Amino acid sequence: SDSLISEKDLPILNLLNEAEKLLLSKQTSKAKDAFQKLINSNPESPRARFGKAEALNKQSEEEKSNKLLQECIQAYGEVAQLQNCPVELKKKTLLLKADRQTFLGHLKAALQTKLQLAREFPTDANVVNQLGVGYLYVGKNNKAKQSFERVLQSHPGNGFALVHLGFITKIQGDWKKSIDFLLPGIHTLAEGTQQGKFYFHLGDALHRTNRTEEAKAIYKLGAERGLFRSKYQRSLYNVERLKSRPYWTAQQAKVTDYVKKLESNWKIIRDEAMKVMDVKKGLFVKEEESLKNTGEWRQFTLFQRGKKEVDCKRVPKTCALLEQMPNAIGCKRGQIKFSIMMPGTHVWPHTGPTNCRLRMHLGLVIPQTGDGVRIRCADDIRTWEEGKVLIFDDSYEHEVWQNAETFRLILIVDVWHPDLSEREKRNLMPI
Ligand code: LMR
Ligand code: MN
Repeated sequence: SDSLISEKDLPILNLLNEAEKLLLSKQTSKAKDAFQKLINSNPESPRARFGKAEALNKQSEEEKSNKLLQECIQAYGEVAQLQNCPVELKKKTLLLKADRQTFLGHLKAALQTKLQLAREFPTDANVVNQLGVGYLYVGKNNKAKQSFERVLQSHPGNGFALVHLGFITKIQGDWKKSIDFLLPGIHTLAEGTQQGKFYFHLGDALHRTNRTEEAKAIYKLGAERGLFRSKYQRSLYNVERLKSRPYWTAQQAKVTDYVKKLESNWKIIRDEAMKVMDVKKGLFVKEEESLKNTGEWRQFTLFQRGKKEVDCKRVPKTCALLEQMPNAIGCKRGQIKFSIMMPGTHVWPHTGPTNCRLRMHLGLVIPQTGDGVRIRCADDIRTWEEGKVLIFDDSYEHEVWQNAETFRLILIVDVWHPDLSEREKRNLMPI
């Protein structure tokens, strides 16, 4: 459009158009050369510099080259620095620069670019929203909140600002208030609002404030819109083709040998855990993901993300046994941990992050007193048995009640989903 053109572009408009055609017809490197030639003869033409940046962007994608991406980021910045850069082009090029910086993982640099944008375009809702996201990416949640609030002051129905503000409010623990942002936010259907995490947290906030029917409706809607695998299976980091069901047998999970090892050594494992519980209480740390409604729940982690924790040596026999289970200790999307739960504990319904693992629970101390202990996964409520392994898929909604009179102790061992290839196990990003 005209607002993207500067008077410095006018003398070479035909040549610019030709170079742009090369870019559109995927002759990326020819296009880059053409734009470079135009820069050499007309160094103040914003469109020539912008064209080169676009060519570098395409080329960096084609060649998967970070070096070219760095050059591209530099080039977008040079467009904005030109005296006569049209305002709209400046906004566009800086937004692209920030986007590429984010893609490259340069989150602080991206935030600086967004701050520059917000100084120049302080009333632009998209710019200020992007600034909010920039703050979120570097963990400055309160700053992010302020950005989204600023957008909502001038644009009260802005869906993007609503869902992001709701998301931060929810993870900060204000369930009730988060609903007032998330619910209208997702219903705008605006760009950027249809993400699983917004439905995930909205449903959770509704559930925790006793609006359980509305929570179910949101999960159902999320599944219908393809954001969840199903209303119960709401993990967000998935390999789509994997077969899923709430509970698995050892045969189905292809872990009969692991189960045999765990079940025939369960007393040794239990005794080691009990010993460190008594003398080294500090190894068991409180569950910190705010999954718990009431009570007390502690965990002692031995492996996570495929790596051994130093304190594994406190339970040497257990650790040596686990070392014989490559699909467990090598599970980069899981953990191995003791889990102790005190009477009076209720764990909110929740969902793990990924469908790439299955979760084995080895019962170690399972009290039968009072109302007992129970786990629900999807629609099915079960309990543990001492010396027996229970296998479930924690990417499905699950919930736990500890209403016995004494503590419950289990060993949690995550294993790779049996359908994953060795290549996938190597290459999946750890969680
Ligand atoms: C869970 O995996 O969320 C719980 O079942 C863990 C536990 O200790 O019961
Ligand atoms: Mn869980």
